[in-house]
Amino acid sequence: MAEPTPQARITELRDELNRHNYNYYVLSNPTISDQEFDALLHELATLEAAHPEMFDANSPTQRVGSDLTNEFEHIVHERPMLSLGNTYNREDVSEFYQRVKEGLDGDPFEICCELKYDGLSISLIYEDGQLVRAATRGDGVRGDDVTANVRTIRTIPLSLRPGTGFPNRFEIRGEVLMPWERFNALNHERELREEALFANPRNAASGTLKLKSSAEVARRRLDAYLYFLLGDDIPATTHYERLLLARKWGFRVSEDVKLAHSLEEIYAFIDYWDKRRSSLPVATDGIVLKVNSLAQQEELGFTAKTPRWAIAYKFQAEQALTRLLSVSYQVGRTGAVTPVANMEPVLLAGTVVRRASLHNEDVIRSLDLHIGDFVRVEKAGEIIPQIVGVDTSRRSGKDGEPIAFITECPECGAHLIRYEGEASTYCPNDTRCRPQILGKIEHFISRDAMDISSLGPETADSFYSRGLIRNVADLYNLTVAEICGGYPSRIISARKIVESVEQSKKVGFDRVLYALGIRFVGRVAARQLARTFRTMDVLKAASEEQLQRAEGIGQTIAKSIVAWFAQDDNRKLVERLREAGVQMEMPEEVTSGDALAGKTIVISGTFAHHSRDEYKLLIEQNGGRNASSISSKTSFVLAGDNMGPSKMEKARSLGVPFVSETEFLLMLGEKPAQQPSLF
Ligand code: IVH
Repeated sequence: MAEPTPQARITELRDELNRHNYNYYVLSNPTISDQEFDALLHELATLEAAHPEMFDANSPTQRVGSDLTNEFEHIVHERPMLSLGNTYNREDVSEFYQRVKEGLDGDPFEICCELKYDGLSISLIYEDGQLVRAATRGDGVRGDDVTANVRTIRTIPLSLRPGTGFPNRFEIRGEVLMPWERFNALNHERELREEALFANPRNAASGTLKLKSSAEVARRRLDAYLYFLLGDDIPATTHYERLLLARKWGFRVSEDVKLAHSLEEIYAFIDYWDKRRSSLPVATDGIVLKVNSLAQQEELGFTAKTPRWAIAYKFQAEQALTRLLSVSYQVGRTGAVTPVANMEPVLLAGTVVRRASLHNEDVIRSLDLHIGDFVRVEKAGEIIPQIVGVDTSRRSGKDGEPIAFITECPECGAHLIRYEGEASTYCPNDTRCRPQILGKIEHFISRDAMDISSLGPETADSFYSRGLIRNVADLYNLTVAEICGGYPSRIISARKIVESVEQSKKVGFDRVLYALGIRFVGRVAARQLARTFRTMDVLKAASEEQLQRAEGIGQTIAKSIVAWFAQDDNRKLVERLREAGVQMEMPEEVTSGDALAGKTIVISGTFAHHSRDEYKLLIEQNGGRNASSISSKTSFVLAGDNMGPSKMEKARSLGVPFVSETEFLLMLGEKPAQQPSLF
C-alpha cells in the first residue's frame, strides 16, 4: 500500500488520537499504553511543525497550550447561565418536590439526581463537531472567553466522535475542576515557594482557568464534568437521555446520575453521597435535583434567577470542636505575619487537624479568641481548616485573656507595623529578616527578573543557610569552589550557576529595577521608570513629585521608591551590584524606523512569532503608538489568533482594518520565520 501523504497522515493521526482520548478520559478504558499514545502524539506534532498550513487549533497537539499571553475578551452568553436555588435540609427538598408536583397538576414525574461538582461552571459551543468557544459563567450574562485555556483540558473533546449524530451547533455546560490530587500537589509546590495557597480546589480551578499562559494551564491538568446540554436539534425528550447522548458524542458525563421516582429515593441518593463523597477524586458540595422530562421543565419554567424545575441540596460543612492551645506567628517572604492556631488534634473530614490559619489580627479579634477556648473548626470544602466560632459556654473564669497580636517579629525582633487600609501586619526589616531576605533572593533570580535559571529557590536557600550569600549582591561573588564546598560531584551544577549569574549581567535595566523587589514596583512600573529616568542615579535622586510625573506612577509607588533608596543598606546594595557589572542604565532607545509614524495600533489575539510585549515595542520603535481599545482613531488592528468577537465586531462597525501578523512583519521589513515547533 502506498504511504499516505503527510496531510492524510495528519488527519489520520488526529482521528486516532481523539479516539484514544475518548477511551481514556470518558470511558476510562484505554486501549493503548501511554508510551504508544505519546509516540503517536509526537509523530503528529512533528508532521504539523513541518506543515504549518495544516494548523488546527483543535488538533490533539494543542492540548499542551502555548506561552503566548491570553487576553480574555468578554462574551455575551447566548442563553443566560442561571444558578440554582439552594436547600440545606430535607424539609426544603420536600417543599421543592411538592412545588413540582403541584406545578405539574399531579402528573407523574421523575427527578434526575446528580452530584453537585464544586468547581467553575463553563459553557462550551460546538459547531460541526468542533469546539469553537469556551466561556466562564461570569455574571451569568457575560463571561470570559477562555477557549485557549479550555483546549488544554483533556476531558473536554476538541473534536466530537464522528458519526455519533451530534447536531451542527449546540451548547453544553459543565464544571471545570481541579482533582484533589492535583490540588494537593499544586499547593505543595506553592508552599515550597512560599506562595499563597489556594483555599480549595474551586479557587485553584478558577485561578488556573484565568491564567495568561495556557502552557501553565495544561501543566496543572484540570478536569471537567458536563451536565447540561442545550440546543434546538437534540433528539431527546428527557434530561437523562441528553446526558447519554452527550456521553456518546464524546463528553465526560458523570456515572453517578440516578433517576428517582419518589422523595424517599431522593433522600437515599443524598444519604449515599453524603457518606461517600470524600472518596471521590474531585470536590463536590451537594446534590442537584432536576425534573427529567424536558416538556415538564418547560411547563414549570423559571423565576427571575433560577429554574423552577431544578434545585441544589448543599451538604453540611463538616465541623469539629477542639481546644485552642496556642497561637504562633509565621513571617512570610513579603514580611507579612500570619497568626496560626495550634489546637488539640481532632479528626475532621478524614484527616487529623492540628492547625488552622487565623489570617490576621482582625480575624482573632472578631472571634474574641482566648487561649484554652473550645473552638469550632470547619472544612467547608476548604483544605485549610478555619476556626468559625468559639463555644463560650465552656470558657471558665480562669482561662486566658483575649489573644493579643504580637508586636515584635518572631524572626528578627523588629517592631511590627500595619499599613493603613491593609489587614496584614508586616515586619518592616526587609534587609535583615531571614524569610524576607530569602524572598528577595528568590524574586531576584526569578525568570521575569534576573533569570538566574540554574539557581532554584531551594538551592538559594541552602546557600543562605551555608552562609554563602546574605543578599542578592553576594551572588556575584560566588565561586565554583565555594559552591562545591569540597564536594567534587557538585562541580557541573556549580559551573552552571556561576555562568548564569554571569549571564544575568546582560539583563536590561528595567528588569534589574524590577528584580530589586521594591514594594509596589511590578514589571510594568519598572519598565516605565526605566524609560523615564533612564539611569539608576537619576532615579535614586528623584523626589516623590518627580517620580509621579512618570506615566502610571502614583503616590504609593513614588513613596515606596523614595523610602527604599533612603535606606543605607539598599544604597550599598545598588553600589555593589553596579561594581559587579549589573546594568544600571537604559541604552538609548533604538528606533528602527518610521514605518508606523502617525499610526495608532491596537493589538488583539495571540501571535506565533513574537510576544504581545515584543509587538508593543516594535510598534514604538517604528514610530507608532499603542492603544488598548478600538476607536475611530485606530489606524488598524494587529490581529492574531483567537481575537475576541466583541473587539472584532467593534473594529468592523468602525471600519477599522485588520492586519495579520505576517502582513505586519512584512510592513516592517521583517520576514516571518517558520511556525515554531511544539517540542
Ligand atoms: S445544572 C439551570 N448540574 O452549580 C441549571 N449545575 O448553583 C444549570 N453545578 O452554576 C446548572 N454540578 O456551576 C448543574 N450536576 C450539576 C452541577 C451544577 C455543579 C454548579 C453549576 C451551577 C451551580 C448552581
